[in-house]
Amino acid sequence: MRTAELIQKKRDGGRLSREELEFLVSGYVRGEIPDYQMAAWAMAVFFQGMDAEETADLTLIMANSGDTLDLSAIKGFKADKHSTGGVADTTTLVLAPLVASTGVRVAKMSGRGLGHTGGTVDKLESIPGFKTSLSAREFIDQVNQIGISVVGQSGELAPADKLLYALRDVTATVESIPLIASSIMSKKIAAGSDGFVLDVKVGRGAFLKKEEDALALAKSLVQIGKLVRKPTVALVTDMNQPLGRSIGNALEVKEAIQTLQGRGPRNLTELCLQLGTEMLVLAGAAADAAEARSRLEHSLRSGLAFDKFKEWVAAQGGDPRVAEDISLLPQASFQQDILAPRRGFVQEIDPLTLALTAMHLGAGRATKDAAIDLAVGIEVQVGVGDLVSAGDVLARIHANDPKQLAAAVVEAAPAFVIGEAEPPRRPLVYGKITARDV
Ligand code: URA
Repeated sequence: MRTAELIQKKRDGGRLSREELEFLVSGYVRGEIPDYQMAAWAMAVFFQGMDAEETADLTLIMANSGDTLDLSAIKGFKADKHSTGGVADTTTLVLAPLVASTGVRVAKMSGRGLGHTGGTVDKLESIPGFKTSLSAREFIDQVNQIGISVVGQSGELAPADKLLYALRDVTATVESIPLIASSIMSKKIAAGSDGFVLDVKVGRGAFLKKEEDALALAKSLVQIGKLVRKPTVALVTDMNQPLGRSIGNALEVKEAIQTLQGRGPRNLTELCLQLGTEMLVLAGAAADAAEARSRLEHSLRSGLAFDKFKEWVAAQGGDPRVAEDISLLPQASFQQDILAPRRGFVQEIDPLTLALTAMHLGAGRATKDAAIDLAVGIEVQVGVGDLVSAGDVLARIHANDPKQLAAAVVEAAPAFVIGEAEPPRRPLVYGKITARDV
């Protein structure tokens, strides 16, 4: 096989066989195929696309390019959830114990935040003592014992994707639906769960801005799941405003605790119930969506989900008293409110502006190894559509440095647009893609 011929075949609209893709990807990982040839192939894919089987083949080849997690020692169906990245999106911290409290096992590997979106592992590390690094044995034993474990990525999962993603990032080839879909699914498959519920975010605070692109990605993800026999469902959900009300690690843990106590923001709670419903149905733990939802609602109302959260925190070495006393979480030294300049309806709350402000405060990292400040962030106090009066609090900034606090107030204020007319309501979920739709 010659690499140039494979690039040419793709350039001219052909499809590569599994063997040809294997040759390309493994050659690239071994360093035998240079960046410039892989970049040329990625650009050819960008323009010509890949069909469903070709995308699934690439996914499995990347999934098997490094370490894979064998979760077969965990009894029962293991359901995983993945979000393409949102703002004030503390879903995993609520959803994982909520689903586990119904008896469905959650064995999840999560990431750290990078850029403007937060990461579950950073949030969990704001709980004093919480260990996000467990051995494979500890991880599996914990899921068998209490039905839940969430850890940071260990080993080298899908190294082919890591290399290819870094190359795409600098060759203008990120925005290709088959390349994005295979990248996401390769990591999920390597992490070993039996089925996936995917939350594809769309809007100003998301990586995809257009609904049609998000739907196309959702279809491609579900199609891969179908071809590799891992049941997969995708919801396309709104990211034109922050999902919850808190942005920043400890602040999001606090919000997750309140949500598990039934006192969380409406959209965050609703999305957790909808994603949880899909997980229970995938796992065969409920006959239909109505039964799944009512079991989840019961878990929230009765405190079962909250109890599971405390059990989970304790099992991973964290201080479970944070659930009853959120003052045990890291607290920032300075707070300042952003006030409404006039009376009117909140038209927009730009999630990207708020996420970037939180990042500049130190809540997120601009580069992979940067340190973060777990206490800082933003608590939004209003939602789109709320009527506010001049002087009402729109958001509270938490900072550990007075200069950064002042700069954050200036940076975040334009995120809030106040106007005369009541704005139309945006849906929370734009669509759902199941295996029947692809
Ligand atoms: N997220 C991923 O994991 N991969 C992509 O290609 C894009 C977003």
